[in-house]
Amino acid sequence: SKLNPTIFVIFGGTGDLNKRKLAPALYNLYTEGYMPSKFAIIGTGRTAFTDEKYQKELLHSVNEFSRNGKVKKDKWDVFSQSIHYCTIDIKSQQTFENLKGEIEKYQADFGENTQVIFYLAVAPNLFPLIAQCLHQYKLTGNEENCRIVIEKPFGHDLESAKELNLLLSGIFTEKQIYRIDHYLGKETVQNMMAFRFANSLFEPLWNRTYIEHIQISVTEQLGVGDRGGYYEGAGALRDMIQNHLLQLLCLVGMEAPISFNADEIRDRKVEVLRAVRPFKPEEISSHAVRGQYSKGWVEGKEVPGYRSENGVDAHSNTETFAAVKFFIDNWRWQGIPFYLRTGKRMNQTSSIITIQFKDVPHHIFSNNVAETWQQNRLIISIQPEASIRLQVQSKRPGLDMVLNPVDMVFNYKGTYENDSPEAYETLLLDAILGDQTLFMRGDQVEAAWELVMPIIHTWENKKSLSFPNYAADSWGPEEAEALIARDGYHWFTLP
Ligand code: BG6
Repeated sequence: SKLNPTIFVIFGGTGDLNKRKLAPALYNLYTEGYMPSKFAIIGTGRTAFTDEKYQKELLHSVNEFSRNGKVKKDKWDVFSQSIHYCTIDIKSQQTFENLKGEIEKYQADFGENTQVIFYLAVAPNLFPLIAQCLHQYKLTGNEENCRIVIEKPFGHDLESAKELNLLLSGIFTEKQIYRIDHYLGKETVQNMMAFRFANSLFEPLWNRTYIEHIQISVTEQLGVGDRGGYYEGAGALRDMIQNHLLQLLCLVGMEAPISFNADEIRDRKVEVLRAVRPFKPEEISSHAVRGQYSKGWVEGKEVPGYRSENGVDAHSNTETFAAVKFFIDNWRWQGIPFYLRTGKRMNQTSSIITIQFKDVPHHIFSNNVAETWQQNRLIISIQPEASIRLQVQSKRPGLDMVLNPVDMVFNYKGTYENDSPEAYETLLLDAILGDQTLFMRGDQVEAAWELVMPIIHTWENKKSLSFPNYAADSWGPEEAEALIARDGYHWFTLP
């Protein structure tokens, strides 16, 4: 392959993200011929490992978590020769000198165009420390040959996100910084650009004249599981809305870019965030709803309420559900509500975007003819079903004139033979290629924080008296229904 030789250095090399996502993604890229012909993976962590032991650990992980099932032995044997381990202690100069030695060894071996990608799959409090070490030990290279990938969460609020951006920009250029939002790597999320800007059918309708409202709903059946410690300090607004859901909003709401170019696209997205109407403190209660799950039953088994999860305070005020109604103040979207909701321990795991179109201007069919009257809807299902549905009214076959809504469905399954790659395969390959399109630019992250900060402040300053306010396996708190029902709508789910 023509790709530049690449050295991956994974901080958090013994961590969960590497086990579940990064190692399987790198292996799959390798088996599908997308890895550079010369590459090395250097896992780092505090625990000591020999290369052999570390390779065995990763083999377990890849076997367990790869979308392609168990590895092929001959492939793995060759792949694993490129896996190494380096013990790192942030406070120890010696360990960084060792890492530097390893990197230089590969640089010498791989030749001139070798690039280094530092992947920070660690707790966020380590981001600045590691970046500073890379600087101190002169490992930061230049725009062509060195990149740093930063996992989420990028900051805890607007101020800390700004601080982190400032620190990073003192060490790297923006072209070297790859901020992950793994939703952007999802196949169906990438397709939104194609759907909107490679078809002439939809764009003329994609505005306030024809669209009535838009819903972005990302619900999960799982609870917080063993991430209670992290989640307590985060909550649904920080964990999902600030990043994933607002990115989806950008993709739905953005203007057409002039070309498929990273900065061009990110400019258009940031413009959407800047146009979102900021909330005044007194508006929060009518535009945002929070929830926290209580115990309940999931598939015949009793599951604990959030306050009884590991690592969670018994009186916790952290929200596990959030719904927000945004408006975008520009020509395209003036007056059109965007309803966002996300929650854990919900009745369904499903990420869907629904575009509800306005009603026909004049009804020629009487109520009894239209068995069910439904305005046109476009439903983009991101996961688990990967599909796009256009819901239209149709005459039911028969001698009577009776109408009902039907779905025109494009389903990935049945249309395409290949499985979609995992988001991390796409994102790692883009990092190798030096393509920042699917990564967050510094100003984007800050603009997104700016939008959610008033809600965060209001919620933090005022304890919710009704928590927990939704049962596990439900559709969330009643207030979330009321938020949308007040405007005459309801939350949509897939048929
Ligand atoms: C992560 C959140 O960013 O996204 C998790 O921290 C959440 O809380 C996850 O479960 C959802 O991602 P996906 O790809 O499973 O929809």
